[in-house]
Amino acid sequence: METLKNQISIEFDAISENERLARVVIAAFLAGIDPTLDELEDVKTAVSEAVTNAVIHGYKENGGKVVLRASLSTDEKLTVDIIDYGVGIANVEQAMQPLFTTGVPSERSGMGFSFMEAFMDGLEVESTPREGTSVHMWKHFAKRQTTGTKPILQAAVWNRTGRE
Ligand SMILES: Nc1ncnc2c1ncn2[C@@H]1O[C@H](COP(=O)(O)OP(=O)(O)OP(=O)(O)O)[C@@H](O)[C@H]1O
Ligand SMILES: [Mg+2]
Repeated sequence: METLKNQISIEFDAISENERLARVVIAAFLAGIDPTLDELEDVKTAVSEAVTNAVIHGYKENGGKVVLRASLSTDEKLTVDIIDYGVGIANVEQAMQPLFTTGVPSERSGMGFSFMEAFMDGLEVESTPREGTSVHMWKHFAKRQTTGTKPILQAAVWNRTGRE
């Protein structure tokens, strides 16, 4: 049975600098389950695509607030929600089509939602015009066998700094 192991919620300004912040936050949140570098990169990319969309499309670069929620269950399922209170999307199905963009074609390729879909196990988008957009994504991680596999020196350092 899956139960919740950890959950976070942070709110930050909708400015492009915070795309990096969101990547760092989600990476730190996942550190406890020891993801592979590929898994980590996939989740970071999906999260930064959603945050970029909130900044650029949701708030049209005029600022606002973005909420990042993440939760991890005991069966190693990660869920992430990226929420904005911006302009919203009139036609979500159309917006999620590969190559569809309302942005400047020289700057945007219309591939953000496709990346989120490809890099996560699931993606759901809810949006209401003039109220905002909520992007819900999830991914399963394989259970790792961590005991006995760490180099002894690394384990000793972790004990000393109280990290494990
Ligand atoms: N948070 C949001 N608020 C309002 N509109 C959004 C939001 N996210 C996406 N959209 C709409 O969905 C379209 C498709 O988004 P998607 O991320 O797939 O492509 P893009 O952002 O246009 O280009 P790319 O991500 O490749 O730079 C956007 O052009 C925009 O019209
Ligand atoms: Mg995008």
